[in-house]
Amino acid sequence: MAEQTFSYPTGLTKRERYEAFLKDFAPFIEGEEDTISTLANTAAALREAFGFFWVGFYLVKEPEWLHLGPFQGSVACTRIKRGRGVCGTAWAEERTLVVPDVDAFPGHIACSSLSRSEIVVPMFKDGTVIGVLDIDSDQLNAFDAEDQSALEQLVGLL
Ligand code: SME
Repeated sequence: MAEQTFSYPTGLTKRERYEAFLKDFAPFIEGEEDTISTLANTAAALREAFGFFWVGFYLVKEPEWLHLGPFQGSVACTRIKRGRGVCGTAWAEERTLVVPDVDAFPGHIACSSLSRSEIVVPMFKDGTVIGVLDIDSDQLNAFDAEDQSALEQLVGLL
């Protein structure tokens, strides 16, 4: 495999950075059948391209529980119940949640006290949620509709 980096010039707008990322990322994961390998590389690629504070996956492993999957960042809670926290709520409501201030989200689960805002994007297979992509920032209000749209596109590739 040729070396692949996901490092982009600092001057790019967020939109340009997502466009460059998605263009490189789609062929990068093509042909890899192992889910864990793909998710691990996805977390690493997102962290490299965007410098996210925490980025990773929680996967549906039991009817009511998400389990921690591949991630980049500091250690995190290993299980989240359906309907709990931002991740469990995004799963239960089957929609992306953009949380500008985690302290204002009822039931937010603080894996790190440094996390200030968050986006959680559900992943679907045959119409059922099989996990979520969770990204945390140490800045307030870090995520918006542009992140939502690009990250929903990204999880659609997985
Ligand atoms: N904040 C999440 C928990 C996972 S950590 O952010 C990595 C939540 O409320 O579901």
